[in-house]
Amino acid sequence: QFQPLVFSGVQPTGNLHLGNYLGAIRKFVALQEKNDCIYCVVDMHALTAQLVHDELKEQTRSIAAAFIASGIDPTKHIVFNQSKVAAHAELAWIFNCVARMGWMNRMTQFKDKAGKDAEKASLGLLAYPSLMAADILLYRATHVPVGDDQKQHLELTRDIAQKFNIDFTAQIRKTGKGVDIKVGDEPVHAYFPMVEPLIDGPAPRVMSLRDGTKKMSKSDPSDLSRINLMDDSETIAKKIKKAKTDPDGLPGETDGLAGRPEADNLVGIYAALSDRSKADVLKEFGGQQFSTFKPALADLAVAVLAPINAEMRRLMAATDHIDTILKEGGDRAAARAAVTMAEVRDIVGF
Ligand code: ADP
Ligand code: NA
Repeated sequence: QFQPLVFSGVQPTGNLHLGNYLGAIRKFVALQEKNDCIYCVVDMHALTAQLVHDELKEQTRSIAAAFIASGIDPTKHIVFNQSKVAAHAELAWIFNCVARMGWMNRMTQFKDKAGKDAEKASLGLLAYPSLMAADILLYRATHVPVGDDQKQHLELTRDIAQKFNIDFTAQIRKTGKGVDIKVGDEPVHAYFPMVEPLIDGPAPRVMSLRDGTKKMSKSDPSDLSRINLMDDSETIAKKIKKAKTDPDGLPGETDGLAGRPEADNLVGIYAALSDRSKADVLKEFGGQQFSTFKPALADLAVAVLAPINAEMRRLMAATDHIDTILKEGGDRAAARAAVTMAEVRDIVGF
């Protein structure tokens, strides 16, 4: 059996929003009670879209500050930034040679981000999921809390782990570090675990407040489409008030949320922010008008986000504390990564 370990990462690109918080960071906090966790600011991934030198350090600190302000305990778990541990890049190279071009070409995030002229996209953008697999498997992590948009990348992580395990079976046996697992019904002697994505919950994909068909995203040109973690209370209330809804009120419990994307999104946000189910929220608000529900949602969002916002500002005002956390986290991550890399080097024949 692989030792259970939680790993996840967030890119230091642009402002964190409610989707990042509910899809990822809030889950990180919940998981730390019962698990060994590593939470990473993936600054090497940030270079795939554009070269961002001036802002990168500051953005990296602000993601780390968001982790800490949300309640992650860096003394019990590891918080660090990816570029401090060069082994991420080393393992990614090996995975580049395990993964197939066809797998990368099928990634919907690559297609979305590369746009019409994929020839002009960076090679890093194409290879992104291979580096992501390395981030996770460098620590032989078993569970990865992410938003629904990352599902396909985690399937690819499993494909890479599986192909590595099969391609190097004989060498893995020789190290004595492999683990007998089943992939489906197939027995495999594995060096890397088959990671389990942790995506469930009432808001696995938080949608734009302006368009129920698009996910809430850092790159949406409309600031009204998202609630940023750094928004003040009035801005949060204003954005929720302006959120697009259909003319009907909230459906009753029995009618449900099918075919009501905007209502579904707001109820999901309410549920996730209050650790309740959507059914439970409908039990309370079903049949009421949005003019009643929206202020209640705004109050809840402010109650949860304002203290995080205040703590982030405090941490960002004097960055020594965050820098120390990242430095110590980086040292601890590097020590763990070195163990895996020594074995992987042995397995591949270096
Ligand atoms: P972004 O997608 O905002 O550029 P990242 O790629 O760094 O940011 O994602 C950080 C985490 O936030 C990932 O786990 C991702 O799945 C999650 N996430 C991003 N957007 C959303 C959303 N709209 N709803 C739920 N989770 C999201
Ligand atoms: Na994402």
